[in-house]
Amino acid sequence: MVTGWPNMSNPADDTFFFILGISVVLLAVNTGIMLYFVFRYNRKRHPQAEEVRENVSLEILWTVIPTILVLAIFFVGWKGFQYMRTAPPDAMIVKVTARQWSWTFDYENGRQDNVLKVPVEKPVKLLITSADVLHSLYIPAYRIKEDCVPGRQTYLWFLPDQLGSYDLFCTEYCGLGHSDMITKVEVMTQKDFDAWYSGKQETALGPEGVGSANHPAVKKAGAPALDEGARLFQLKGCVACHTTDGTPKIGPTFKGVFGKRETVIHDGQERQITVDEAFIKQTLMHPEVDRVKGFPPMMPSQQGQLTDKEINEIILYIKSLK
Ligand code: CUA
Repeated sequence: MVTGWPNMSNPADDTFFFILGISVVLLAVNTGIMLYFVFRYNRKRHPQAEEVRENVSLEILWTVIPTILVLAIFFVGWKGFQYMRTAPPDAMIVKVTARQWSWTFDYENGRQDNVLKVPVEKPVKLLITSADVLHSLYIPAYRIKEDCVPGRQTYLWFLPDQLGSYDLFCTEYCGLGHSDMITKVEVMTQKDFDAWYSGKQETALGPEGVGSANHPAVKKAGAPALDEGARLFQLKGCVACHTTDGTPKIGPTFKGVFGKRETVIHDGQERQITVDEAFIKQTLMHPEVDRVKGFPPMMPSQQGQLTDKEINEIILYIKSLK
């Protein structure tokens, strides 16, 4: 077995090889017939061309065979779909929220993360939705994929049967930050998972993750409120468009932005503003009012997505990024 590639119990691979097998046989048969015709009916052997019309048995044959093949492919695919939709009753439930452009995973005990952490050998059922537009959750290593539909819950399950870190990404084009909508599935030992789940082990969003206690901004300030702002920065997807190290991305960087004079576009006119608490609040709720010059109108409104407390925590965090 290839290292880092889990052993599949999901029937997706069977379906794939079944269809591939049919395709290979059809390719061989069609190519064989074509070659035979080229040989048998070339001008030397068959100088006088003739028109062939109506062959009922042939017509029946090439209608019936593909129909059977398509039905067989449907049947195998349906079985795989049913498997994916029938979670074992003891499956662990994780709620997934997709948004432009990040993932949030909510556990039954209130634990929340941007990385899907699961214990090995335990079935996991994902209840999936979207906070804004259509996204699609895809974990290639476990052969599962399901659309994230706003206002609706979709679901699937999988068995993380090998320890490791696997890609999880969005496969539905969802805007400018689509290609950044990537995270990981961390398959952990039951012991590690329990430690994390019970909150004893601090969550680290990657080695230098902004949410981790190791992040410079958090370390320096050391205040719990900043920790919370840094966590929200990841969790609410700000990180998809904004950096904290001074490099502009899709939107302006947060580093040193507080208190800065900026030129914004207001009603098609340029004007000067100071980035203060009021401006950040306004931009979170009504980003279209004053858009920083030189950046695309991509900022999604966070109305209904953030509480006042969360907004204040984010402002505190931005203030700390000097
Ligand atoms: Cu979300 Cu593409």
